[in-house]
Amino acid sequence: MDNNELRSADWFGRTGKDGFIYRSWIQKQGIPSNFFSGKPVIGICNTWSELTPCNSHFRELAQSVKNGILEAGGFPVEFPVMSLGESLMKPTAMLYRNLASMDVEESIRANPLDGVVLLCGCDKTTPSLLMGAASVNLPTIVVSGGPMLTGKYRGKSIGTSDLWRFSEEQRTGDISQQEMFAIEAGMCRSNGHCAVMGTASTMACMVESLGVSLPGNAAIPAADSARKVLAHLSGVRIVEMVKENLKLSDILTRQAFENAIITNAAIGGSTNFVIHLLAIAGRIGVPLSLDEFNDIGKDVPLLVNLEPSGKYFMEDMYYAGGLPVVHKEISGFLHNDCITANGRTIQDNYSRAECYNTEVIASIDKPVNPISGVVVLKGNLCVDGAVIKPSAASDHLLQHTGKAVVFEDIDDYKARIDDPELDVDENSILVLKQVGPKGYPGMPEVGNMGLPTKLLEKGVTDMVRISDGRMSGTGFGTVVLHVSPESAIGGTFAIVQNGDIIKLDVFNKVLHLEVSDEEIAIRKSKLPPFVAIADRGYVGLYQNTVEQAHLGADLGFLKGSSGSVVSKDSH
Ligand code: FES
Ligand code: MG
Repeated sequence: MDNNELRSADWFGRTGKDGFIYRSWIQKQGIPSNFFSGKPVIGICNTWSELTPCNSHFRELAQSVKNGILEAGGFPVEFPVMSLGESLMKPTAMLYRNLASMDVEESIRANPLDGVVLLCGCDKTTPSLLMGAASVNLPTIVVSGGPMLTGKYRGKSIGTSDLWRFSEEQRTGDISQQEMFAIEAGMCRSNGHCAVMGTASTMACMVESLGVSLPGNAAIPAADSARKVLAHLSGVRIVEMVKENLKLSDILTRQAFENAIITNAAIGGSTNFVIHLLAIAGRIGVPLSLDEFNDIGKDVPLLVNLEPSGKYFMEDMYYAGGLPVVHKEISGFLHNDCITANGRTIQDNYSRAECYNTEVIASIDKPVNPISGVVVLKGNLCVDGAVIKPSAASDHLLQHTGKAVVFEDIDDYKARIDDPELDVDENSILVLKQVGPKGYPGMPEVGNMGLPTKLLEKGVTDMVRISDGRMSGTGFGTVVLHVSPESAIGGTFAIVQNGDIIKLDVFNKVLHLEVSDEEIAIRKSKLPPFVAIADRGYVGLYQNTVEQAHLGADLGFLKGSSGSVVSKDSH
């Protein structure tokens, strides 16, 4: 691309009043006009925030990106967007994913940008930025913040997944509050996002598999100087991408989405992957449905031995060779000619990869587990689908029939789960309603609800749990999630009663409520209509327009792209 064909030339390449305004106010930052006029202008979309601890090192990371952009002859401009901190935001960061994506989309389109670098880290900061950028479709590259160093407690390695175990041990009195404080202090030892194969790591692997980052992006720890080197090189590369006019839509093809699904099976990625990938596909206009997740990536075994499906951490994955090693092992399943951000194919990117630790990244012939991926269940209880991650579940519960113990909402669950009178045993199925996208609202990560203390004390470690909510990517257990349609809008899930028999059969992909169609219809006719809790503001907009989980839980009107053209000036 010629420099006078740059999108930014429509701002900085102008004469008269408009060109004056566009150029003069940039110069007040102490920047000479020849520094930005006629050069590729690269936006660095920064989710730095002290309220997003996983992204708190992003000002430094942005500096490395800037150095690369300057080296390649571009003009870097850093701008903030809404940052979503998983650990602090109530009722759930997921409620705001779509709002953040709107901020990203409009900030990119309205400004004189030729290309964009997305700085992503904590769970929702990756999909929200990619969704927003996809709806504009400029040349775009992702730089992830990298995982934290492995947590340590009494010489043992720990990560976010262990939190769920520690919490149950504390409930049964096996761990004291004093010990919990000590564990808390050892969990998060450095910059970076959760160090297990939770949602943040899954998202970093997703962008690398889609091809929208440089190879190696997923696993380099935040604290490793190689992370800054990757940021610098991404800055260099985005300037070239602008010159080549290599846009997101050139990379985010149907085949790239299939590669991401195949990879997610091999790494034991989060169930949240499904919702975010569907939402991104919806923005870039690639047809993809939940049902297809069962076929794409079928027969791909679990290769990556990381918590919560295995035992290691992202730091170990980096030392073992990172995601390119995984791609090399599963090359027989991948679309190998997909083009990636560096202009080369995914095959070029993994061709020189070598595995340095087969304990951490197993070979395709000797996988960690032949069972992998996210299974989509169907049945009268979830007409539009539900998901389960079998590698993080208990083998003996993958085919299980049991009596429902129903909690009408999260408050009901909290009030009664430890009631000694609760009629529950290890064969029961815990059902939690009103935690879907519209109902909660925002679909919180409560699906891996804790077990009744009286069963924990008996040594029970897992039970079938079903909800219309989500689970943290760091979570585990025989947990059925994302039941669609959700209970709040009158899905069959809303009419489950205590004592109803539910049949889960993961091998045959079935979730069935053993209640007759007639009885289901009678119970449904008595359900109250859905009423949004908010009648104004973003939450009101969200509750009235959010789509169901099987469609990606985007706001319906945000699907698709408006492109990058803005024809009118501001003065
Ligand atoms: Fe940010 Fe886990 S809390 S990635
Ligand atoms: Mg999370």
